[in-house]
Amino acid sequence: MNAVITFVDVVKRFGSQVVLDKVNVEFSRGKTTVIAGGSGQGKSVSLKLILGLMQPDSGQILVDGVDISRLGRKKLNQVRSQFGVLFQGGALLDSMTVWENVALPLTERTTFARDEVERRVAQALVQFDLVGHELKFPAQLSGGMQKRVGLARALMLQPSIMLFDEPTTGLDPQITMDIYRLFFKTQKELGYSSIIVSHDIPKVFNLADEVIILSNGSMLKFYSPEDIQHSTDPEVMEFASKTMGQVYHSSVEMMAV
Ligand SMILES: Nc1ncnc2c1ncn2[C@@H]1O[C@H](COP(=O)(O)OP(=O)(O)O)[C@@H](O)[C@H]1O
Ligand SMILES: [Mg+2]
Repeated sequence: MNAVITFVDVVKRFGSQVVLDKVNVEFSRGKTTVIAGGSGQGKSVSLKLILGLMQPDSGQILVDGVDISRLGRKKLNQVRSQFGVLFQGGALLDSMTVWENVALPLTERTTFARDEVERRVAQALVQFDLVGHELKFPAQLSGGMQKRVGLARALMLQPSIMLFDEPTTGLDPQITMDIYRLFFKTQKELGYSSIIVSHDIPKVFNLADEVIILSNGSMLKFYSPEDIQHSTDPEVMEFASKTMGQVYHSSVEMMAV
């Protein structure tokens, strides 16, 4: 199955407001898909539907072919265990050190012995360039380091799907690029399916294998960022001219530093 997640006729409303209006879309396995769209269009809602934190009013959300919106709690937790998430705030626990934050998924969700936990955490700290910062608390870290801790923690249980919601909010442009490079490199190394919601357009397109534009309740899928500029849909054309400039070329070389 090439699609890791499939939306089938998904409708999501809040009262009279229709956020998703019979959406049909597929997210490709092992790739990075960026969901772009204006504020309030339903990007975060879409991620919550994928996680089973919200239910659609009608339609199906298939994760590996299983409709997540109709699962009982136990099955839902099983499906969820393959997700890693990194949301805006990073959601680090302020009262825990870097080491404890990174170890948390292992101590909470596995029965690994202490030395196995220590081994895995040590490995993650090296991988995400956090050696020497183990005993610091989140408030003592720069924004970029907080994101690295958040990513390290999100990957501890080796998820097959990573969801990112505005992961670079609050970071300056240089650190944003560093974090995107890290996302790119990590996804290539580990091969998980990655879904990134961001309004960092066009910067985030450098990571994107595929792009989904969410607008007025519909999702339009593009098989490369460049394809967006060939669209004749008036809304997409407006989006492209506003956010992507005249001519856009994604520069994967830039990511591979
Ligand atoms: N729990 C909720 N109750 C009511 N309305 C909601 C809820 N969550 C989101 N919405 C509305 O749905 C729309 C899409 O929200 P959201 O997905 O957060 O937008 P964004 O694309 O900025 O992430 C917004 O108009 C928001 O107000
Ligand atoms: Mg949002």
